[in-house]
Amino acid sequence: MNNLRPVGVIGTGKYVPEKILTNSDLEKMVDTNDEWIVSRTGIKERHIAAPDQATSDLAYEAAIKALESAGMTGSDLDLIIVATITPDSSFPSTACILQDKLGAKGAAAFDLSAACSGFVYGLATATSFIKSGMYNNALVIGADCLSRITDYTDRNTCVLFGDGAGAVIVGEVPEGRGFKSFDLGAEGAGGSLLQMEGGGSRLPASVETVENKKHYIYMNGREVFKFAVRVMGTATVEVLRKAGLERTDVDLFVPHQANIRIIQSAMQRLELPEEKVVVNVDKYANTSAASIPLALVEAAEEGRMKAGDTVLMVGFGGGLTWGASVLVW
Ligand code: ACO
Repeated sequence: MNNLRPVGVIGTGKYVPEKILTNSDLEKMVDTNDEWIVSRTGIKERHIAAPDQATSDLAYEAAIKALESAGMTGSDLDLIIVATITPDSSFPSTACILQDKLGAKGAAAFDLSAACSGFVYGLATATSFIKSGMYNNALVIGADCLSRITDYTDRNTCVLFGDGAGAVIVGEVPEGRGFKSFDLGAEGAGGSLLQMEGGGSRLPASVETVENKKHYIYMNGREVFKFAVRVMGTATVEVLRKAGLERTDVDLFVPHQANIRIIQSAMQRLELPEEKVVVNVDKYANTSAASIPLALVEAAEEGRMKAGDTVLMVGFGGGLTWGASVLVW
């Protein structure tokens, strides 16, 4: 991959909705408490979309900022990929809605479904297209409104999720910079551990599916936890190997923000000090596809990366899937 033109991130933007749902708010909704949530997950609060906001609205706000930071407008884009499991509707895709709103006339646009790994899958897809010469400037967004598929009477899941969007512009960068490797994978056999069964062609929406809560996230938390710890370790080792780097070469680690304990286990495996790890799960909770870009963009805004730094992103999610990437900033 590296003998083709170098491709990296040339613009960044993020957006979270205004409304904040705190742990003490949740204490009034289900049988839970701040101490349990913080000690088991590291989450203190999460942002929740307003009733009139859909995923494309969150994605649009992040996209505008990313375009601005790249010094571009929508007409400069020739590819738009939105990673999401909560599209505005089954079709048209959220990417097509965005293409119209951004005035990205003629740009190819599609959604990508890989749950919390979706953003890294999107980066790999855009990078391949650009390296091949098919496109030049891609907008890659991770955006989700998990609040729309969360059962706020189920304490096992409702404390874990939030809404948001993170966007990057992917394009050609100077020699030596950009994406050095990707490691994407899936274990479809574990699909039923984390799923939303209703609303598709297997189980179309009906009174029965609504009554049986089939339009909400179902998760086997313990099994997903074990999967997460395992693949965060293996994907990290593999993506570094593919880039020809050692764990000591990592300047900034940007993990999926699902649970602080999962992040800590990856930190221990890589022997990374806290200052090299981006953590914002306390403020945003698990925002699925938006999680890694929210962390990456926030780190960029805080000046935590300088040109030439080695950034390692890694995530896991429904599918089951995982995705990791090494990026020289
Ligand atoms: N408040 C209080 N008690 C709770 C809560 C809550 N919010 N939720 C669960 N409990 C209880 C359980 O009922 C259980 O009680 P019991 O022992 O009487 O049955 C007890 O706490 C312990 O439950 P565990 O499931 O063992 O708790 P665990 O330490 O495993 O933490 C958690 C649960 C946080 C869900 C953890 O398993 C986890 O983070 N898993 C991974 C989730 C994840 O990362 N998902 C990412 C993918 S999301 C996507 O792709 C959309």
